Amino acid sequence: MRINSLQEYHEAYSLSVEKPEEFWANIANEFDWIKPFTKVLDWSFDDYSVKWFEDGQMNITANALDRHLKTIPDQAAIVYEPNEPGDEAITLTYRQLHARVCKFSNVLKAQGVKKGDRVCIYMPMIPELAIAVLACARIGAIHSVVFGGFSAQSISDRINDSLCKIVITTDGAVRGNKTIPMKETVDDALLSCPSVETVIVKTRTKTPVSMLKGRDLWWEEEEAQASADCAPEPMNAEDPLFILYTSGSTGKPKGVVHTCGGYMVYTAYTFANVFQYNPGDVFFCTADIGWITGHSYLVYGPLLNGAISVLFEGIPTYPDAGRFWDIIKRHQVNIFYTAPTAIRSLMGFGDEVLEGKDLSSLRVLGSVGEPINEEAWQWYHEKIGQGNCPIVDTWWQTETGGLMISPIAGITPLKPAFATLPLPGVQPILVDENGKEIEGNGVNGNLCIKYPWPSIIRTTYGDHERCKTTYFSTYPGLYFTGDGCMRDEDGYYRITGRVDDVMNISGHRIGTAEVENAINMHTGVIESAVVGFPHDVKGQGIYAYVICEHPTINDDLTRKDILATVARVIGPIAKPDKIQFVTGLPKTRSGKIMRRILRKVAEGEFGSLGDTSTLLDPSVVDSIIAGAL
Ligand code: WT7
Repeated sequence: MRINSLQEYHEAYSLSVEKPEEFWANIANEFDWIKPFTKVLDWSFDDYSVKWFEDGQMNITANALDRHLKTIPDQAAIVYEPNEPGDEAITLTYRQLHARVCKFSNVLKAQGVKKGDRVCIYMPMIPELAIAVLACARIGAIHSVVFGGFSAQSISDRINDSLCKIVITTDGAVRGNKTIPMKETVDDALLSCPSVETVIVKTRTKTPVSMLKGRDLWWEEEEAQASADCAPEPMNAEDPLFILYTSGSTGKPKGVVHTCGGYMVYTAYTFANVFQYNPGDVFFCTADIGWITGHSYLVYGPLLNGAISVLFEGIPTYPDAGRFWDIIKRHQVNIFYTAPTAIRSLMGFGDEVLEGKDLSSLRVLGSVGEPINEEAWQWYHEKIGQGNCPIVDTWWQTETGGLMISPIAGITPLKPAFATLPLPGVQPILVDENGKEIEGNGVNGNLCIKYPWPSIIRTTYGDHERCKTTYFSTYPGLYFTGDGCMRDEDGYYRITGRVDDVMNISGHRIGTAEVENAINMHTGVIESAVVGFPHDVKGQGIYAYVICEHPTINDDLTRKDILATVARVIGPIAKPDKIQFVTGLPKTRSGKIMRRILRKVAEGEFGSLGDTSTLLDPSVVDSIIAGAL
């Protein structure tokens, strides 16, 4: 499974393309299967269906936990670094984590949760979040983790889309110097969620909460009564493991479905290779478990490899902008994986913050979530990596489940700001607007993948048609990523950003349509159009053009009201950075908004708006420009 040299990478890559089934079967056979698979792959991108190891039976937690009890029972599995730097860090060894997962599995079972049931998890970054996720996987329930920063409305949309039976949450959360209600937000969400029968509440902040008789239970009381004995549920490789909601260019977020076997094999393989994890290494992924990065590279990938994974509750700027660096020293972190936004933001605090920090334990650095600009790459390399840690710029998506295009640490020759080369099993192809392949090097195009890998999205929950049209209809026969990409003279890939109506705000994916719908919920708003624009720290910011019913008397107050509305409907991460009030939007005769023009104006490029002759009313553009100046 382990690639040790550039030559081995090339060999593995060739085999994965020439004999993909042989390649993946060999890797899959390194895991514990309850019933071995005999079929490796069955697939079609035309009438979308993908099945890996379909007649095999396994349980991902038997591989992530039980398997290690024989070899490293007393090694740390999860190291919890609390929000307050003075608070004691808590280590859960594999034996302890296993016991707690088994107990909580029994808690879920006692509440009638069965294989295939959906479980919503809305929690801050505490060990119980990982425990809840793993307990679901152990009993075959499908977890649907909702990021702790989302609103009540977002929670209820997600619960109702997949009809969750149970919600797991905490009384509150602490992030930096703020205390945030969690249970209260869940209570608001549940006013419109008839499928939910039970709520389990872990104590974190001791915030007073209302506990509904017959529905709400305390985690601690239930866990105390539960047995630590729970056999893993035999799962078919293609049974769903989890749903994770993510934004697209249209409509409400969709539930991306990943399945047990392929996801296990692929996350474990990519974790081991890309980060070149060695036994005993301490791995620190700063992502929240509410996103795919946390699922794949804080929980599953590391635990499948018997790794030590740091789980940090707080934020990078509390108590000061040196927190990450203090954590690296405190836990002797060897591999550090974060997002360009965090790097750019910390860079902004100046190098004084780094004085006296001991970063000598670091060996490998990673970047994920958005394109990393060269300046940030250089700073990361020199100041954090002390010039001697390879940076793996890992390109992938919620839908891909695991890393797709990325260097292999210390093995792939790097180029700043390039995700470099596809990992074994990944067959990228660039196409033009008409879907024609763009061959050769030194080219730009839309990034597609032409062959399935084990952790490819299987469906969008409850709506397979949507999965087909979103990913497999733009370019028939290909998985379309939504990203633009260049392939340079050396065949190296550089992701240039989304080519659809999806924004990437601080590495968080948000659809323009979603924000527009939220803004339009405000009573005074008639219509809005939202685009992304370049932002120094966030990568992209949100720019909203808004038409109000009455010419606004108090623009500032209306702006604040709109921001409050967006925060209420989606969550604070979706609040626009700029709101411009306009009297009209640039529309074609068929009523389509020409976002190209709005993007240019948002970028401040008024001179190069291109052809505006197809607009219903070209004069709209002049007044928008006048308002933007
Ligand atoms: C989108 C996926 C899966 C990681 C977390 C985000 C962008 C992701 C990179 C990178 C340039 C990147 C793409 C992609 N993206 N990694 N290394 N370089 N862009 O997952 O929320 O599903 O977003 O993030 O645009 O399509 P996600």
